[in-house]
Amino acid sequence: MKSLLKKLYNTNSLDNDELLYLLDNMNVEYQELLFYYANNTRIRNYGKKVYIRGLVEFSSYCKNTCKYCGIRCENKKADRYRMELEEIIKCCNEGNKLDYKTFVLQSGEDAYYTDDLLVEIVLKIKSCFPNSAVTLSIGEKSYLTYKKLFNAGVDRYLLRHETASKELYKELHPRMSFENRMRCLNDLKDIGYQVGAGFIVGLPNQTNEVLVKDLLYLKKLEPEMVGIGPLIIHPDTPLRNFKCGSLSKTFTCLALTRLLLPDVLLPATTALNVVDPNGWGKALKVGANVIMLNLSPGYLRKKYELYKGKAEVVDEAIKYFEEVKEIINKAGYEMDMSRGDHKRWKRKEGICCE
Ligand code: 5AD
Repeated sequence: MKSLLKKLYNTNSLDNDELLYLLDNMNVEYQELLFYYANNTRIRNYGKKVYIRGLVEFSSYCKNTCKYCGIRCENKKADRYRMELEEIIKCCNEGNKLDYKTFVLQSGEDAYYTDDLLVEIVLKIKSCFPNSAVTLSIGEKSYLTYKKLFNAGVDRYLLRHETASKELYKELHPRMSFENRMRCLNDLKDIGYQVGAGFIVGLPNQTNEVLVKDLLYLKKLEPEMVGIGPLIIHPDTPLRNFKCGSLSKTFTCLALTRLLLPDVLLPATTALNVVDPNGWGKALKVGANVIMLNLSPGYLRKKYELYKGKAEVVDEAIKYFEEVKEIINKAGYEMDMSRGDHKRWKRKEGICCE
């Protein structure tokens, strides 16, 4: 185990069997070494900085039926909403007051927002906040739509692959296809976005073999960002009788991802903080270097319930700002309000690296 961990630390690469061996034999003692290496790698690449993103969940309508997700269209109990342009700008304005330099616009797959409307929203944000990055997280679109949005000024795009097992993907996403997911991620990369992929830990029937597939898929895709969080059960979904994902396993996956992709932007995800009140603090120590805070007004946040308990954690994000700063400082890191672009991207655009 120790020599494999060292090899991963030194080369940022392992093969299928080696990763599987690591996952199968992980224990608290080896985790300590893994986390130490992951944190060192993070410090070498990004120092102690923790980048802050402002999240605007602008629509909870969704045409999909992902079996784990609370806003799946078949959940008739979900109380849906969508924001108009002015409301979205209002949310960004709140973030801007606190010096946020990234706005992440997330929604279900909602056809109400046509390409033209999305372009209008992006152009408006870019004109109001010219020094800010815009990230979209609105699901699967055509190459042409991705291209239009990129040309309108979108900088980054989050689209988790959810699971790299084709069989598991099919089982959990009845109306979707694994091939189209991959096609979307490849298109986004090809167009020039900073791309975020990622997966859920603790999905039913997710073996260590499947997690190795996830890690190797990420290694191959080389996304600029990776979102990893534990499964949290929502009672109004088909997974209501399953159990939540393991926190410890999630930390292992975060640390392995940091070592496989040393300069990746890796958020301490919201789901982690739902399971453990100190989830963010712990994640920062095992390689995470980004935190996303919710900018949607409290009364809407409750309606964007991907999983149980989500709204409580992110409630009052703006007042929460100082508290989050303290979580970061207590863990030994520093809040950073710059755009926090990926290093590779900075070079491509010719923006000076520190
Ligand atoms: N538990 C954990 N993560 C979830 N997501 C959606 N529903 C759940 C859940 N019940 C994640 C998906 C999606 C992201 C926005 O939220 O990975 O890509």
